Amino acid sequence: MAELNILFIGAPGSGKGTQSFKLAQKKNLIHLSTGDLFRNNLKQETDLGLLAKSYIDKGQLVPDSVTTDMVADFVKKISDKKGIVFDGFPRNLVQAKNFKKILSGNNRILNQVIFFKISNQQVIARLTGRLYAQKSGLVYHVKNNPPKKKGVCDVSGETLITRTDDNPEVIAERLDIFHKNTEALLNYYKKENLLKTIDAFYSPNEVFNSILKALES
Ligand code: AP5
Ligand code: MG
Repeated sequence: MAELNILFIGAPGSGKGTQSFKLAQKKNLIHLSTGDLFRNNLKQETDLGLLAKSYIDKGQLVPDSVTTDMVADFVKKISDKKGIVFDGFPRNLVQAKNFKKILSGNNRILNQVIFFKISNQQVIARLTGRLYAQKSGLVYHVKNNPPKKKGVCDVSGETLITRTDDNPEVIAERLDIFHKNTEALLNYYKKENLLKTIDAFYSPNEVFNSILKALES
């Protein structure tokens, strides 16, 4: 079977990272989260990381050209025998058009796009309780999905942190930008006949089952 290339589109906190991890494990895919890549760069204090921080901390998008180059670089390094789950790129039409070129330049096609439908109220509840493991990229929630040992990642053993952009003002800005960009993006993939919508409100396992069903159909 040809390798899978899947795109997850969803509001901040809709569960893209949580579901990418599950899907990547089940289908043996590479997980590409642009947010995680920026944060890893920041941890290593690269120029890219420092530039990204100035946008991330305000809840704004990092410029399209910078983000596109980073994704192009990442994809180029992965064997075309390996599928990828794209989490958080593209986020607007300019990026979607750049994405098409990146894929075709690397002998890939996009198989499916999954949109995570969820209310603002629900994502605010999720983001204000999120705990993040920087090294493993895993996410937890103080109530919905606590780690086995308080404050520590189950897999890497590292100390869990709160992301600097998970505060009420920045969450509001991220949501605003998401809603401004996403209708056009969804219309673009609807026209390409790639778009499936799932209800991201339910538990992680229920959402995962909806994703698997959407991928089969
Ligand atoms: P990024 O890191 O991608 O942030 P985001 O898009 O705002 O999304 P999140 O990572 O916050 O949420 P998620 O959907 O992954 O949810 P999660 O699974 O963690 O981007 C950060 C920043 O980087 C952007 O603001 C921008 O500045 C920059 N950036 C990134 N991509 C860019 C691009 N393409 N262009 C330009 N700039 C870019 O879940 C959230 C919480 O809910 C967790 O606590 C989790 O445990 C819990 N949870 C998950 N699923 C469920 C469930 N089903 N039920 C209950 N709780 C759940
Ligand atoms: Mg994420």
